[in-house]
Amino acid sequence: MDIDWKNLGFQYMPVNCNIRYSYKNGEWGKMRLHENNDINLSIAASCLHYGQAAFEGLKAFRCKDGKVKVFRPQENAKRMNLTNNHLLMPEIPEAMFLEALENVVRENIEFVPPYGTGGALYIRPLTIGTTAQIGIAAAADYEFIMLATPVGPYYKGGIKPVRAMISDAYDRAAPLGTGHVKVAGNYAASLAPTKLAKESNCQVALFLDAKTRSYIEEFGTSNFIGVTADNHYVTPQSPSILESITNISLRELASDIGLTVEHRPIPVAELDNFVEVGACGTAVVITPVGEIVSTRKTYNYGENIGPVLQKLYDKMTGIQYGEEEDTHNWMYEITE
Ligand SMILES: Cc1ncc(COP(=O)(O)O)c(C=O)c1O
Repeated sequence: MDIDWKNLGFQYMPVNCNIRYSYKNGEWGKMRLHENNDINLSIAASCLHYGQAAFEGLKAFRCKDGKVKVFRPQENAKRMNLTNNHLLMPEIPEAMFLEALENVVRENIEFVPPYGTGGALYIRPLTIGTTAQIGIAAAADYEFIMLATPVGPYYKGGIKPVRAMISDAYDRAAPLGTGHVKVAGNYAASLAPTKLAKESNCQVALFLDAKTRSYIEEFGTSNFIGVTADNHYVTPQSPSILESITNISLRELASDIGLTVEHRPIPVAELDNFVEVGACGTAVVITPVGEIVSTRKTYNYGENIGPVLQKLYDKMTGIQYGEEEDTHNWMYEITE
């Protein structure tokens, strides 16, 4: 195997195998290991027509001590069940989720990027409704799949701030809709607003609350963090944003290093109060946001990552790669 680890991007690369379970007659069957990248699915499967599909994303790291560890998988299992429940799909027992995880990592162990390359094995759990039906109803049959693919360091040439555009033409999620869960359709809906942002030379779209358009919600695939001059870590609370596991963890780290954590609704007008702004999620941990543009105003946060976000980024990646003590017991070791 000849992988250029340092130049690995965020593309799908086929690996040795993936893990699958089928749900039939009201129960999950036994774990199966598939070398095939394809699935055999009816053209009338409910996931294809009616979007009965939920996914997750997490990472396995090759740590400094040579061990392979996954960041907080139990949290992803919990969130997947929140989504599955919302879509009337069966829950994934935590033991089954962890069995799939251990097997998908172990069977693809040579695809975990070596320590020091900045990469990780990205793991993608997926639940889909597979029953062939034309009427709109919850499927009777499901497939739970866990696939893996190696991904490279997101920041190849150092951490560079992005520009964000406040989405005026589109909302991401309705107050009582599906924004708080990881429903596949949310991401199809985010493609057009993100395209619009890119046309304005912005890499990401920043969504406001759909009801009043006056509160900050989140970016298309990451949560919003603002840091004030007096060291407050401020992040939105809303029924229509996805609870980022990275954000939950960063809040704990922020508190550990003496920041005051505020998790509350944030009016757009408060964008003026922040000295640092970031987007956080599994893919990147923290992306600094250098500029936020709206039709009315441009907010500037500097051309480099600020000291507080840098510190949090270092602390988090330090724990993930086993360079810092895992004081919160977040890392889940895979026995090889
Ligand atoms: C809409 C949205 N917000 C936030 C996040 C970040 O969540 P996490 O930190 O769990 O990756 C993601 C990615 O999963 C996302 O899709």
